[in-house]
Amino acid sequence: MNLKTLSSIGLVLFGVLFSASWLSCQNTESASSRLRAQILEQFPAQLADVPVPANNRQTPDKIRLGEALFFDPNLSSCGQVACATCHIPEMGFSDGLRISKGCDGETGRRNSNTIYNTAYLSHLFWDGRAQSLEEQALGPVVDPDEMANSWENVISYLKTGTHPLTQLEYPESAQFYERYFEGVFAGEITPGNVTKAIAAYERSIVSRDAPYDRWIQGDDSALSREALKGARVFFGRGRCSECHQPPNFTDSDFHNVAVQRAGFEKPEMFPENDHICGGILKDVDPGRAEVAALRSSEADLGRFKTPTLRNVEQTAPYMHNGTFSTLDGVLQHYWNVGRGTMTAQIGTVDDKADMIMLTSFGGEPDDMINLMAFLKALTGSQMQSPAGGIAPPGGE
Ligand code: HEC
Ligand code: HEC
Repeated sequence: MNLKTLSSIGLVLFGVLFSASWLSCQNTESASSRLRAQILEQFPAQLADVPVPANNRQTPDKIRLGEALFFDPNLSSCGQVACATCHIPEMGFSDGLRISKGCDGETGRRNSNTIYNTAYLSHLFWDGRAQSLEEQALGPVVDPDEMANSWENVISYLKTGTHPLTQLEYPESAQFYERYFEGVFAGEITPGNVTKAIAAYERSIVSRDAPYDRWIQGDDSALSREALKGARVFFGRGRCSECHQPPNFTDSDFHNVAVQRAGFEKPEMFPENDHICGGILKDVDPGRAEVAALRSSEADLGRFKTPTLRNVEQTAPYMHNGTFSTLDGVLQHYWNVGRGTMTAQIGTVDDKADMIMLTSFGGEPDDMINLMAFLKALTGSQMQSPAGGIAPPGGE
């Protein structure tokens, strides 16, 4: 074989390889745009502007005040637990614990939700018992498992800079609050205004610039091959998008997806569960069924709010009771539900979840790896704790 023949073989080979890779690239691109078109037929491409109530408009100073309150541990009775203790920006505004801990290490019974995109939610908490961020923020301050304080103490601290229980003095905080409450609320330091400022801060915590967002807006290169395959499972046979609907990856509804018991830390605190759960163990979390108005509805047993999947990579552990420490664990759970080897311990898995069972997303060996890559492509903005971390806002 002379040099000429060799180089023509080389050329032919190069041509074949080049066109094969060009073709597969074309295929990926058309698969990508087909999937995008299919998603856009059903769902909006982008999150709308953050909805803001007429009586609580956003202003930079109100958001700054809300941030200071959110990071101020002196809103708690022990002077050590801020909202940000359980909603840490660097952990996707969650806390990394299975079940959150309040003053004196008191535990509640649920995993802390992310604050990302709560501005878009019509129901708050895992059981949907609060309907607005303003209403929600009233709760933790007085919840014995969280900040365990009274509003009287909080207002007294904000006005004087002296924590009424620890007796520690924070004159710089007092100056800060005086200045900001004056500017934002004409000097009225009331529980209503505290919660308004906190809600305004929470409405500034938005994640909508993930690789998924760039992809859905037309950038084919924003998703890796695995993530694109994962998206096909997510929106296809995995049926994840039945409930985790874009653009916020939730349907604002409640479902039973066969997560096992919550493990009430203190069953004696929930005697009403005897009534709801009948023969079922007291340490099972009834979820939506516990919300007073719906208490008698058997169908709501074991139903929890579909959580957003925005920044989900950062918010381990997962589910209302933090039962899975990794996303792998969550996917394995859905795989088991799909194969029918995991069934609801309380209530019944509802119709939509039944569809995952029937379709069993784990049809191909790398479905889980691909789904994982797609879930990671939902990570967008990553906010930071203010310099100095969780501390009263003095020094301004
Ligand atoms: C001791 C830990 C802890 C503290 C302190 C705490 N939270 Fe939470 N937060 C949680 C837990 C746990 C949940 C879920 C509770 C449930 O569903 O029953 C939650 C839920 C929420 C939600 C609902 C999000 C959603 O997706 O529905 C918001 C909003 C929120 N907290 C804001 C705050 C604010 C504001 C403060 C301070 C005033 C605060 N939290 C203090 C642990 C805490
Ligand atoms: C029937 C509605 C429904 C379907 C279908 C569904 N989910 Fe969920 N998902 C939920 C609900 C409800 C929860 C919370 C359950 C709980 O805490 O008990 C949840 C929780 C999660 C979580 C944990 C998030 C967190 O912050 O703790 C992940 C991750 C998740 N789902 C991914 C998926 C994937 C991937 C699929 C497809 C294989 C899927 N889901 C299908 C309703 C659904």
